Amino acid sequence: MDAHRGGGGRAGGRPVGGSGGASAPGGARGRGARTGGAGPRLRAATGGGDPTPARPGGGAGPRRRPAARPPRVGRTRGARRGRPAGTRHSGRGGVTAPAVAVVDQVRDLLARDGQALSPAAVAGALRRAGRPVGDTFVLAVHDVLQRDVVGAGPLEPLLRTPGATDVLVNGPDAVYLDRGAGLELTDVRFPDEAAVRRLAQRLAAVGGRRLDDATPHVDLRLPDGTRLHAVLAPVARPGTVVSLRVPRAQVFTLAELVAAGSVPAAGADLLRRIVERRLAFLVSGGTGSGKTTLLNALLSLVDPAERIVLVEDASELRPEHPHVVGLEARPPNLEGAGEVTVRTLVRQALRMRPDRLVLGEARGAEVTDLLAAMNTGHEGGCATIHANSAADVPSRVEALALATGMSQAAVHSQLASALDLVVHVGRGADGRRRVQEIGQVVRRDGRVEVRPAYVFETDRVRAVDPGAGPAPARVLVP
Ligand SMILES: Nc1ncnc2c1ncn2[C@@H]1O[C@H](COP(=O)(O)OP(=O)(O)O)[C@@H](O)[C@H]1O
Ligand SMILES: [Mg+2]
Repeated sequence: MDAHRGGGGRAGGRPVGGSGGASAPGGARGRGARTGGAGPRLRAATGGGDPTPARPGGGAGPRRRPAARPPRVGRTRGARRGRPAGTRHSGRGGVTAPAVAVVDQVRDLLARDGQALSPAAVAGALRRAGRPVGDTFVLAVHDVLQRDVVGAGPLEPLLRTPGATDVLVNGPDAVYLDRGAGLELTDVRFPDEAAVRRLAQRLAAVGGRRLDDATPHVDLRLPDGTRLHAVLAPVARPGTVVSLRVPRAQVFTLAELVAAGSVPAAGADLLRRIVERRLAFLVSGGTGSGKTTLLNALLSLVDPAERIVLVEDASELRPEHPHVVGLEARPPNLEGAGEVTVRTLVRQALRMRPDRLVLGEARGAEVTDLLAAMNTGHEGGCATIHANSAADVPSRVEALALATGMSQAAVHSQLASALDLVVHVGRGADGRRRVQEIGQVVRRDGRVEVRPAYVFETDRVRAVDPGAGPAPARVLVP
């Protein structure tokens, strides 16, 4: 969880005031662990006890996302709240970052004495190290160390496991990891329920939210992009339940998806044609099935002459394309002000002359704005949507749109003229993510249905006559 770390903060390190100050076994103490090292970095500095992290295998880290990020809209996610003024390291007006060597020295001194982290302890350690310095510098060093300990404690090594996508904590005794092959029970344990609760509350606070008995659940993005969902016990059983979704570490090209066995080669040609022909499509699938990843790969194929405008709840898409503009929604602040909804942004996007309007995920009222846009000359629009099968997509869209007061007939007629295809992704019994089907939108008795047009098998694609409408997705025939 250090993607956000800037300045001179060392990425690897030993705990401060943690479990006896022992260095993590085989841990990468080196600098630059942020670029993919798999070694454990932090122990449960404030989680209490001495949890035993599962040792993920070493090996090269996943390919990081490209450095270029689409511009954000009015988002200052990086700035954490509640920290003393003048201790920021990155950004304008910040304090010069303290030298890595100084921070290391202070960390070691505090760890040796088993001292809890506080500005006073940092000042004392600096004095003992023969470096009397001013308050601002003390706070700056404190801040770097603080960043080490506001991580995910015993979950850090799991979050850094190559390929990790989800870390799920079900109370103190069950921590699961998903690194692409389904859920694996790890041997990470918390000393007790209170430790899980503390961790959940600390992470929520990092994300600027309260988590307590009055509001026992949170859903937010941490500064480094990790998605946190947590529900406190006793609302959740068997204890406080924490679900962490690791931000996308891997960007796949379509060719890489083919190489990984997620798309049969013949399927890649069909997908490419969807983009080239500027068809309107939805990528459907369950949570974590690879919808965003596929959409990202497809957007990277968009003609470089086109202008892509992305609207997202939480910025995830990073297409490799020269002309991308991103708009990201913003939740209200602690006082309930300043919210910018996805719906608003879809409407804004239409005025930004998009050649491609992309909605990262259709999961609310914005679906009606997307449909309206696609019906008013915005070709090549696309989005992901949560659905169990391609055939379920119309009823999912219907459910989302009816909630905004649209009539069923209107939803179906809009859908029929707006949408060409649905690309469904899913995970097989082996946990592998694959494109499973291209469904075609057909109209029947005033209602829209999505019928299979191409079924993707492990190494081939089977064309299916969808019955009504144009024969096997005529739109895709070469
Ligand atoms: N075909 C694939 N092979 C391996 N990993 C994948 C594949 N597609 C997605 N992933 C990984 O799975 C995780 C979830 O993918 P994502 O595209 O965000 O899913 P969704 O949008 O459906 O929730 C990401 O970490 C991503 O890197
Ligand atoms: Mg997604």
